[in-house]
Amino acid sequence: MNESILELPETLAEPSNPGTSPVLQLKTISLSFGGVRALADIDLAIASGEIRAIIGPNGAGKSSLLNVITGIYQPDHGQIWIGDQCFSCVPTQRLARLGVARTFQNLALFKGLDVLDNVLLGRIADRKATFLEQLTGLGRAKREQSQATERASALLDLFDLTPHTNRSVNSLSYGLQKRVELARALVGDPKILLLDEPLAGMAAGEKQEMTRFIRAARDEIGTTIILIEHDIGVVMGLSDKIAVLDYGRKIADGTPVEIRADQAVIDAYLGVAHDEVQPS
Ligand SMILES: Nc1ncnc2c1ncn2[C@@H]1O[C@H](COP(=O)(O)OP(=O)(O)O)[C@@H](O)[C@H]1O
Ligand SMILES: [Mg+2]
Repeated sequence: MNESILELPETLAEPSNPGTSPVLQLKTISLSFGGVRALADIDLAIASGEIRAIIGPNGAGKSSLLNVITGIYQPDHGQIWIGDQCFSCVPTQRLARLGVARTFQNLALFKGLDVLDNVLLGRIADRKATFLEQLTGLGRAKREQSQATERASALLDLFDLTPHTNRSVNSLSYGLQKRVELARALVGDPKILLLDEPLAGMAAGEKQEMTRFIRAARDEIGTTIILIEHDIGVVMGLSDKIAVLDYGRKIADGTPVEIRADQAVIDAYLGVAHDEVQPS
């Protein structure tokens, strides 16, 4: 993937006015696989309400970084702060309660279910009702169900999915299915949403729409968004800030304008692919 960062995108994101205290912070995170240093001393601070892209050539460490934030990989070294809680390894099973949600690069919907039920499934980790309450449909269970349905409907509306509410996800186009995933990830009202290549496999029109809905999630709901994305034009237009990884190191971190002018970034993108030449 050697898309030129020098190409001017049509639009650059206006800097939004994100809050000051980071909702997520990584401090000197390192991770190795055998002899391969996937992440080397990564520091990263994400402000509330920010859209932050993580970019870099193949093998740079982007997926590893996301997997550290979601507790799938345990770093060899460093700290992960989520709000005011510090972890050396994030407990995956507590992610939803910590206010972190993610989508996967490959579609992960329940094919047999309709759009609304798929979105509602994103709310399960949030439930406080006891088994008995859920079984009898009384008390908290009833209240939680109606709150969940209300929230799901609002998201379907935000993402122009309302006409598809009762359609089976099987029958939807790929672009619509990706939108259902976005709604499902947001139904539990996460503070932070991690998107792993949300535009992968999309046609140009679908990309444009999805970009609009990702921005709507931040603008309308206030979700902080961290995304890995290969399409540099989209990244430049959507992100408040961009962190650039290369060979496991963070080589730049700044606004789209700063990143576009950064010599180390230009070199990394114009350099040969990593599988052709190993670093000296
Ligand atoms: N589970 C794993 N086992 C061994 N090596 C891995 C594993 N995951 C990632 N790596 C290596 O770590 C480096 C970073 O990979 P990755 O985070 O997938 O990069 P990116 O997502 O930027 O393409 C690569 O050299 C990759 O081969
Ligand atoms: Mg990857």
